[in-house]
Amino acid sequence: MAVADVSTRTVAEIVSLAGRRAVVTGGAQGLGKAIARRLAEAGASVLIGDVDRDIAQATADDFTHSYGTTVLATYMDVTDSASIVAAADLAVDRLGGLDIWVNNAGVYPSVPILETTDEIWDEVMAVNLRGLFVGSREAARRMIVAGGGGVIVNVASLAGFSGVSPGLAAYATSKHGVRGTTRQMALELAPHDIRVLGVAPSHARTERTAAAIAADPELLAQIPSLSSSRLGRVGVPDDIGRVVLFCASDMAMFMTGSTLLVDAGEMA
Ligand SMILES: NC(=O)c1ccc[n+]([C@@H]2O[C@H](COP(=O)([O-])OP(=O)(O)OC[C@H]3O[C@@H](n4cnc5c(N)ncnc54)[C@H](O)[C@@H]3O)[C@@H](O)[C@H]2O)c1
Repeated sequence: MAVADVSTRTVAEIVSLAGRRAVVTGGAQGLGKAIARRLAEAGASVLIGDVDRDIAQATADDFTHSYGTTVLATYMDVTDSASIVAAADLAVDRLGGLDIWVNNAGVYPSVPILETTDEIWDEVMAVNLRGLFVGSREAARRMIVAGGGGVIVNVASLAGFSGVSPGLAAYATSKHGVRGTTRQMALELAPHDIRVLGVAPSHARTERTAAAIAADPELLAQIPSLSSSRLGRVGVPDDIGRVVLFCASDMAMFMTGSTLLVDAGEMA
């Protein structure tokens, strides 16, 4: 098999996701919501899987209304493999297949290393790393059975490239793992025309990060990207949503295995 050469197609054609079927984990709010929005706007039908089913449903209803494409919501806990399997089966059943799987669900409790318990460590790994692996595995199994290839996009972090502020040891470790599994999955899934890419934000202001800053204003001094960037403003969720759209679309047809920094030049 080989991925298509899209040189003769128009930009509009290769950005379009019309006819594609996507799952976004943790898509009820934050970055996942912005990602689901751009995928739906580009024409994909989308299943939002989230532990917060009510917010996921409200988000899905909003996007169905705004973009006229099918956007569904389901309860999904990425720490529970059976829940991931059920969501993947639901996508195949209700959307008619699976072309795009975005592993976005993630947690980032801030706890100094010396106070990080085994339970905190395991929880971060279960959501950010094992949940991402299981989601990818289940998506790839279904894409391979259908024979049409596909795209897996993993939401990583700048914390997957370097150490970050104190308190994020488990998080930074998990995000380094996300980059590693992105590379390895890309190698193993390329023969099936499944591309695997990572997208690594520095910071994008969400309800949750705004609340964290309000609770602990010292974070602004510890993490410069919370208050500004080299490009003159703080990141917003759509900054990530657009890059995930690029990765998921045929614009990125010859890319797999890399993790794209979306950091306003912070690592420059
Ligand atoms: N916001 C940022 O600045 C930033 C920066 C770098 C990386 N990231 C990454 O982006 C992703 C999204 O982060 P966010 O800031 O939007 O977070 P958020 O907390 O605003 O949203 C996360 C969503 O995931 C859901 N979720 C949490 N645990 C889940 C689970 N076990 N199963 C399914 N859904 C679950 C939540 O209900 C929520 O809807 C994460 O992987 C995070 O590490 C975010």
